[in-house]
Amino acid sequence: MIMKNYIWTLPTRLFHWLLAISFTAAYILGELDEFKNLHFAFGAFVGTIIFFRVLFGFFGPKHSRFSDFPIGFKNQVEFVKAFFANSKVYVGHNPLASLVMISIFIIGIACSLSGFLFYATENNVLSLNLGEDFLGEMHEILATLFLILVIFHLAGIFLDLIFHPKNGIFQSIFTGYKNVEAQKVELNSFQKFFSVLWLVVPFMFFYLAFGLQITNHDSENSKSDKTEQHEGGDDD
Ligand code: HEM
Ligand code: HEM
Repeated sequence: MIMKNYIWTLPTRLFHWLLAISFTAAYILGELDEFKNLHFAFGAFVGTIIFFRVLFGFFGPKHSRFSDFPIGFKNQVEFVKAFFANSKVYVGHNPLASLVMISIFIIGIACSLSGFLFYATENNVLSLNLGEDFLGEMHEILATLFLILVIFHLAGIFLDLIFHPKNGIFQSIFTGYKNVEAQKVELNSFQKFFSVLWLVVPFMFFYLAFGLQITNHDSENSKSDKTEQHEGGDDD
């Protein structure tokens, strides 16, 4: 009989749910003019929490390390063949999930950074030669790619739940346990110390980004247009 084994430690699970909440909030608030600073705050949170996760990929516990991400072409073929036969169980991320995770890390950081650069050029904090329109477009494209990756991720989890319900992958991001043969994962003191920074620093960036000043009110086109029209109406 296969035992339950502890795979995802508390910092990984907290990271996961904080990322899921902050990405969803940043995405929705990006569309709403009234909540710009809250959008910056959640967006900065996403970028920072992913940045720390990337570092964890080099010195975190075994299954969080990039060296445990089987992303090679051969691994992908093997994964697809074994998927329907349920003949191979992956302790960490499976090959396709590993690709999606790495893409989420890269696109997530790029999206957050492009958002900041967009804000900075729009509000004359930095003078970059990239142009506001280009940065705005890039930011929107990266946000859409991020959303597509999340949809892939959710589809993967759903398919896994249908085809391999006994492996316990779905529950693992809540409880930390999967039904796989593996060595129990434990964090060393340095990883514990790092995890505290990982979960505290993003809140500091949230706070800092919330305080960003919006000086270029031209960017709030729709709002100011409406106001001008209204003022014009009064003068007549
Ligand atoms: C915006 C929403 C979400 C994002 C951005 C997201 C992102 C991620 C990331 C980056 C990981 C890798 C964690 C790591 O290696 O440290 C992961 C793993 C995981 N996520 Fe999500 N997630 C989201 C929503 C969800 C939801 C709603 C569920 C299901 C309830 C879910 C279930 C899982 C599971 C089960 C794993 C572990 C997969 C495995 O063992 O290979 N995620 N997710
Ligand atoms: C990964 C995190 C982020 C996501 C998912 C995200 C998503 C979005 C989305 C969906 C939009 C609306 C695009 C459109 O349809 O026009 C948007 C707009 C915008 N975002 Fe972000 N964003 C993130 C991070 C940031 C950050 C960190 C900043 C700045 C500090 C930022 C600044 C902006 C600005 C200035 C706009 C244009 C708002 C406007 O003028 O109406 N974003 N973002």
